[in-house]
Amino acid sequence: MKSIPLLGGLLLSSHQVLAQSDPRVASLDGFTEVPDPYYGQSPPVYPTPEGDGGVDKSWQNAYARARELVSQMTLDEKVNMTHGHEGDCVGNTPSIERLGIPKLCFADGPSGIRGQEFVSAFPAQITVGATFDRGLMKRFGEAMGMEYFRKGINVALLPVAGPLGRIARAGRNWEGFGADPYLSGAGMKAVTTGVQDQGVIVQSKHWLLNEQEYRRNPGPEGESLSSNADDRTIHELYVFPFMDSLKAGAASLMCSYQRVNNSYGCQNSKLLNGILKTELGFQGFVTSDWYAQHAGVASANAGMDLVMPNQAFWGPNLTEAVNNGSVAETRLNDMVTRILAAWYYTGQDDGYPEVAVSPYTEQHPIVDVRGDNAALIREIGAAGHILVKNVNNTLPLKKPRYLSVYGYDARLGDSPWENPARFGGGYEVNFGWNTQNGTLITGGGSGTSTPPYLISPFDAIQRRVMEDQGTVRWDFAAINPPVYANSEACLVFINGYASEAFDRLSLQDEFSDQLVKNVATNCSNTIVVIHSAGIRTVDEWIEHPNITAVVYGLLPGQETGNSIVDVLYGDISPSGRMPFTVARNESDYGHLLNSTVGSGPYPQDNFTEGLYIDYRYFDKHNITPRYEFGYGLSYSTFSYADLSVDSLGGNTNEYPTEQVPVPQGGPSDIWDVLFNVTVNIENTGDVDANEVPQLYVNIATAPARQLRGFDRVHIACGATEQVTFPVTRRDLSIWDVVAQKWKLQKGQYPIYVGASSRDIRLTGTIEV
Ligand SMILES: *[C@@H]1O[C@H](CO)[C@@H](O)[C@H](O)[C@H]1NC(C)=O
Ligand SMILES: *[C@@H]1O[C@H](CO)[C@@H](O)[C@H](O)[C@H]1NC(C)=O
Ligand SMILES: *[C@@H]1O[C@H](CO)[C@@H](O)[C@H](O)[C@H]1NC(C)=O
Ligand SMILES: *[C@@H]1O[C@H](CO)[C@@H](O)[C@H](O)[C@H]1NC(C)=O
Ligand SMILES: *[C@@H]1O[C@H](CO)[C@@H](O)[C@H](O)[C@H]1NC(C)=O
Ligand SMILES: *[C@@H]1O[C@H](CO)[C@@H](O)[C@H](O)[C@H]1NC(C)=O
Ligand SMILES: *[C@@H]1O[C@H](CO)[C@@H](O)[C@H](O)[C@H]1NC(C)=O
Ligand SMILES: *[C@@H]1O[C@H](CO)[C@@H](O)[C@H](O)[C@H]1NC(C)=O
Ligand SMILES: *[C@@H]1O[C@H](CO)[C@@H](O)[C@H](O)[C@H]1NC(C)=O
Ligand SMILES: *[C@@H]1O[C@H](CO)[C@@H](O)[C@H](O)[C@H]1NC(C)=O
Ligand SMILES: *[C@@H]1O[C@H](CO)[C@@H](O)[C@H](O)[C@H]1NC(C)=O
Ligand SMILES: *[C@@H]1O[C@H](CO)[C@@H](O)[C@H](O)[C@H]1NC(C)=O
Repeated sequence: MKSIPLLGGLLLSSHQVLAQSDPRVASLDGFTEVPDPYYGQSPPVYPTPEGDGGVDKSWQNAYARARELVSQMTLDEKVNMTHGHEGDCVGNTPSIERLGIPKLCFADGPSGIRGQEFVSAFPAQITVGATFDRGLMKRFGEAMGMEYFRKGINVALLPVAGPLGRIARAGRNWEGFGADPYLSGAGMKAVTTGVQDQGVIVQSKHWLLNEQEYRRNPGPEGESLSSNADDRTIHELYVFPFMDSLKAGAASLMCSYQRVNNSYGCQNSKLLNGILKTELGFQGFVTSDWYAQHAGVASANAGMDLVMPNQAFWGPNLTEAVNNGSVAETRLNDMVTRILAAWYYTGQDDGYPEVAVSPYTEQHPIVDVRGDNAALIREIGAAGHILVKNVNNTLPLKKPRYLSVYGYDARLGDSPWENPARFGGGYEVNFGWNTQNGTLITGGGSGTSTPPYLISPFDAIQRRVMEDQGTVRWDFAAINPPVYANSEACLVFINGYASEAFDRLSLQDEFSDQLVKNVATNCSNTIVVIHSAGIRTVDEWIEHPNITAVVYGLLPGQETGNSIVDVLYGDISPSGRMPFTVARNESDYGHLLNSTVGSGPYPQDNFTEGLYIDYRYFDKHNITPRYEFGYGLSYSTFSYADLSVDSLGGNTNEYPTEQVPVPQGGPSDIWDVLFNVTVNIENTGDVDANEVPQLYVNIATAPARQLRGFDRVHIACGATEQVTFPVTRRDLSIWDVVAQKWKLQKGQYPIYVGASSRDIRLTGTIEV
């Protein structure tokens, strides 16, 4: 893989050997001969629906042209296009010069192009989610899309809706937008649109139920974990955000490592042929996660279209399988047609830039793709900061002349460039950052970013103190640093790391907690900033009377220092909201804290909580969190009034109107706006500020409150703004497991509008 370090080295264990000796390899549906113990079996769904463009004109045109090309390809050429090859990119498909088909370059995401120079390190998706701002989500997608486009990258391995955040300590939760399908869906839609508007193919991932790292891959102990979930939970929680991406035109999708109901994600016919390609009318292509293919015939017939990063079980064996009839040639044609249709659909046949991806070790021309994205990164970074404690308006700082800054997370790490492809650490079991590592701007693994420079919190604070003709003191190393009596505030920076390939061992660490407590003991104005790749608990010190303000910075990207200064000094009023639930005690997450360890050769992870994860779980079990989903403070105050519900008509029958073919993303009706819920919000405080009102709905037989609307609105001091939440048919529907349709129940739906999932200001009713 040239000099781009890939996760592959880690992942490629003995599983191929295991998989070959697995009796399921020979069977189409991939599970029939597996011994007990056993949970769900994945129902067989065959054959794969052939992509044909469906109802969409652009897809139809793309298919017509793709078919024309495929009809001119030899069997070997077709097989060649369904697997990865050596090349400069993380994934590469081959060119066919006589037909004008170029190589396609696949590159990691979802917070920027990994492992390249003159590219931006964007905020992680968890920070983008915390903004609760669809406009920023869209601009984030557009800016990233522009960078992938200018580097000539055809397929960007983003955005992420799985993991959703079922397990509090799961290592990759920070790669998603937050632990709620509606919030995640809004992000998926915005980024899919933003990236593909630039001509780059998105690859939404990981499909499906990829909710922990532990035993996601097979190993010496046996097969990977099987995520076992019921049909309704699968639809209402985990498929839901992917639907938004599909509806927005997602042209590819990545199947996941682990098994679902005991069948591997990339050979699970119910997930691929069934839910994705039949029920959701998917026209694009399905790529395996890297090294996630575990059988040849089974994955082909289950609906996988492209294997990465090498031929794995395909190549010559796929040719043989087509020749001996175990894989129909129409299936092979469909794989290649889908790949080329995606290429046409996004307009890549017309003047797409040359690939400009190079290893560090080779001299190469500079291709600077960043434009003015730094300004947007700073803006999103600031908007994603969540103020959770602010006693007596400690913040914003009022031109302090004397500040002290503490903690390893305030400064640049000693040697972040040791492995420049993986800034912020590699694949590591690590739940607290040690004193050498420095400020955290992203998590670890393939989703990490590669900053072109890094404005640390200390750099930006020092610059501001200089402008104010002040004095700054610092100590980044000591756990019991000196406190200066004259200092107006003590800023303590700590973090919580997480990485792909490992789940976290804790949501806090002793070093950081002790540091905070030590400073607070001697400093009556202690302000804590937390950069964390997911949840970070704070109950060790949150009630300490000298801790006057606390801000979660999450993972802001390369402009982190400027973003935190914008917030600390009140250049913007914070409006970020918790994209997950922060518990008082880790044990409050119950069985949703740790990844499932399982045992034996076929470990089982039963999603017995169904729809009740994160705040749905806390609400159901009456557990008071420290910071609930949707929580976040402002420098201003707001009052909510005048809740009204307008019925807009539309189809309120029990089921959506049948459509054949099904439009990508599901039947058109489910996206109809049936109601507009409006409220008036007045800024009753002293500063202009953004407010993030949220709409929660109680659907019969579903969790008490589910997010179904949000907005981030700028409201001038003293002014009132009207906010509208458009409520779609899907927002009110449940998945009917018998009818296999989204069902709109007749009756009354209590609704709640507030500043968080528990800070409800207004209530009302929607009547269907
Ligand atoms: C998962 O559920 C199945 C059946 O519902 C049960 O037999 C099995 O013991 C469960 N596994 C675990 C680890 O709880
Ligand atoms: C998994 O098994 C459950 C329980 O039998 C079933 O409801 C669900 O549809 C299955 N899903 C998949 C993808 O196999
Ligand atoms: C398959 O692709 C590789 C890499 O581009 C190329 O070297 C080889 O000739 C191709 N084989 C066929 C049969 O097209
Ligand atoms: C290809 O098939 C042959 C048997 O036909 C088998 O021995 C070999 O392991 C297969 N290769 C892969 C990569 O699956
Ligand atoms: C056809 O070829 C495939 C790939 O080598 C192999 O797995 C399968 O067993 C073969 N089937 C028959 C019926 O020969
Ligand atoms: C906050 O203000 C109140 C009222 O002025 C005062 O009693 C309290 O001590 C202040 N708290 C802190 C932490 O400064
Ligand atoms: C970062 O922290 C980890 C875990 O504490 C440590 O193993 C690693 O050496 C540190 N990296 C640097 C560059 O100090
Ligand atoms: C606080 O200050 C005292 C002296 O004023 C010092 O002895 C102590 O180490 C400092 N730190 C803590 C955590 O008490
Ligand atoms: C708060 O800080 C002051 C020093 O400014 C110290 O005297 C006091 O003991 C601290 N309070 C606590 C509870 O540690
Ligand atoms: C957290 O919960 C555990 C287990 O219930 C308990 O032992 C511990 O004391 C709790 N910690 C706090 C700070 O409440
Ligand atoms: C989570 O795992 C830790 C070990 O890392 C264990 O000590 C703890 O009991 C587990 N907690 C729960 C709630 O399963
Ligand atoms: C519903 O709200 C949207 C704005 O979100 C607005 O464009 C539309 O006109 C509203 N419809 C009605 C009937 O008020």
